[in-house]
Amino acid sequence: MKKTILLLIAFVSLVAVARDKERVSSPDGSLVLTAGVSGGQAFYQLQRSGEPVINLSNLGFQLADGPLNGNFRVLAFARDSKDETWEQPWGEARLVRNHYNELRMSLQERSGSRRRLNVVFRVFDDGIGFRYEFPRQQGLKDFQIMDELTEFNLPWDAPTWSQPTNGTVYYEALYTCEPISRKDTISTPATLEAGDSLYLSIHEANLTDYASLNLTPRGTRLAVALTPWQSGVKVYASAPFSSPWRTVTVARRPGDLLTSRLILNLNEPCRIDTSWLETGRYVGIWWGMHMEDYTWAQGPKHGATTENTRRYIDFAAQHGFKGVLVEGWNEGWDGEWTRIGNHFNFSKAYPDYDLEGLQRYALSKGVKLIAHNETGGSATNYERQLDEAFALYQRLGINSIKTGYVNMMLDGKETQHSQYGIRHYRKVVETAAKYHLMVVNHEGAMPTGLRRTYPNLVATEDMRGQEYNAWSRDGGNPPYHEVILPFTRGLAGPMDFTPGIFNFTNKAVPATHPQTTLAKQLSLYVLLYTPWQMAADMIENYEHQPALTFIESCPTNWEETRVLDARIGHCLVVARKDRDSSSWFVGGATDAEARDMSIALDFLDEGATYRAVIYKDGEGADYRTNPYPMTILQQDVTAASKLNIHLAPSGGFAIRIERK
Ligand code: NOJ
Repeated sequence: MKKTILLLIAFVSLVAVARDKERVSSPDGSLVLTAGVSGGQAFYQLQRSGEPVINLSNLGFQLADGPLNGNFRVLAFARDSKDETWEQPWGEARLVRNHYNELRMSLQERSGSRRRLNVVFRVFDDGIGFRYEFPRQQGLKDFQIMDELTEFNLPWDAPTWSQPTNGTVYYEALYTCEPISRKDTISTPATLEAGDSLYLSIHEANLTDYASLNLTPRGTRLAVALTPWQSGVKVYASAPFSSPWRTVTVARRPGDLLTSRLILNLNEPCRIDTSWLETGRYVGIWWGMHMEDYTWAQGPKHGATTENTRRYIDFAAQHGFKGVLVEGWNEGWDGEWTRIGNHFNFSKAYPDYDLEGLQRYALSKGVKLIAHNETGGSATNYERQLDEAFALYQRLGINSIKTGYVNMMLDGKETQHSQYGIRHYRKVVETAAKYHLMVVNHEGAMPTGLRRTYPNLVATEDMRGQEYNAWSRDGGNPPYHEVILPFTRGLAGPMDFTPGIFNFTNKAVPATHPQTTLAKQLSLYVLLYTPWQMAADMIENYEHQPALTFIESCPTNWEETRVLDARIGHCLVVARKDRDSSSWFVGGATDAEARDMSIALDFLDEGATYRAVIYKDGEGADYRTNPYPMTILQQDVTAASKLNIHLAPSGGFAIRIERK
């Protein structure tokens, strides 16, 4: 009897110890996450095949009325798992597998008001996501988050590709790579080269009514640093409330980061009718302003005139572009719009721009205008007009808008990435969905996979885009820029980079121009994903250019994507299969270094013959001296073919492969 009691005591205490922490592994068993509480402190850690990926890292909050941290006990652990495949209305791949094991850790404070907090972990084969849930409870109703105390405690001082947060208003700095401990606060996605076969990307998913994520390295321990309101508060919340997911994508090869759909899987399923969405390409009255040939404001160089827009509509119709973006069409551009955007009117066109007549003309040719809504950062002025303006666009048959927030502050007071901004952008996207409008947003917030829930949010900027090749006094985007973007910014969501400059002469800032070859501009149509892709140059620069035929033929909606070669900041080769045909498109690009590449076409169907049209750097092409030479050649290929292609310094290639 005594023996039984002793055994029972031992068993009960074992259970109690075990309940302080639990493990959950990925479906393939390679990733193992441990979560628990030790000495009142909630923590998690992650291993891959027995090796540490994230060391013991703290979880918790500093609230305005004291810490919600360091005084926890585990109430319960609960498990769940899912294996489903869902279809994207548009994307880099049609089908997405959502396969994970879940561990929910319910915590309660051991003393005081005994507040509760849950942490939900999902472990996929390609990484993890976790979020906090503040359940409905007596002791916690309205509350203010002063700091989120989440950490990513890394075992190594890994070279990390990231953008700085401090000193930047927009996410438009160049990505740099240094050991993480040497960095100041960075924004995410941050991509770490942790070893020969270990690449990580840290970001967030489903950023809803919260502040954007930044990371402050303290040595190799990364602390979450949320973007604050001016009051210093990071997040105003009321329970029940959930934080965004914190995500760590874990890959063996850099290319696997590009094919991970973890961030999308951590967003809610689609909430809108998608039947009206469109994918495709557009041109616009845009580069002309950045080249100073046109002005946004009224005057002798006004770009958005009826006559000029008709030219663009004719060109679009002739070359298979579905949209024409027109900037500077509406009232508000005359004066200091970058200082204060209160004068923008989103329904009222300038007298030399016949909005209704032009849209009728466009529709008669199978084209639609894209309404530009620059707000100058005046979110309230925009919100006041949303319904009226969007109803007008819908009545006219316009189905997409480009929004913009050129200002250091929103409404003169809050930063773009704060909870204030996040609330505003969501309101715009939700209202736009109601009026069947797709949104391309410039400035604003880094995407976090919201496109799954609201696929009318088709693309955003949040990077140094092509416009820097017009007016940036540093000469433009450096040659390595476009071979970093897909591994960093591109992991967050579709990019409105606006490729396709064919004329590199810049009268306004002569030393600044795309630091690429022409062939590399073409490669970007495959490498930089967006479902709504611009051909950014002025249309006169496309006339009689054989290179345009690649852009005309390149889809923006894919059945699948394969990464054939990838070295972050050096080179990238991607193959994508058209969603509506058996054709494949391959893009490749290099940094300042010339390269000879051998492209195996083993992704093609066995036994079938295809016709490949190859656009590549021609004799003597070099981004510094002569970016234009391009060779276009055709040849029959099969799954057994290998294409040997020379890439010039900052060069590239683009290939269309059609089944014969
Ligand atoms: C900045 C945007 O990135 C650019 O595309 C736009 O032309 C200007 N703002 C004016 O809205």
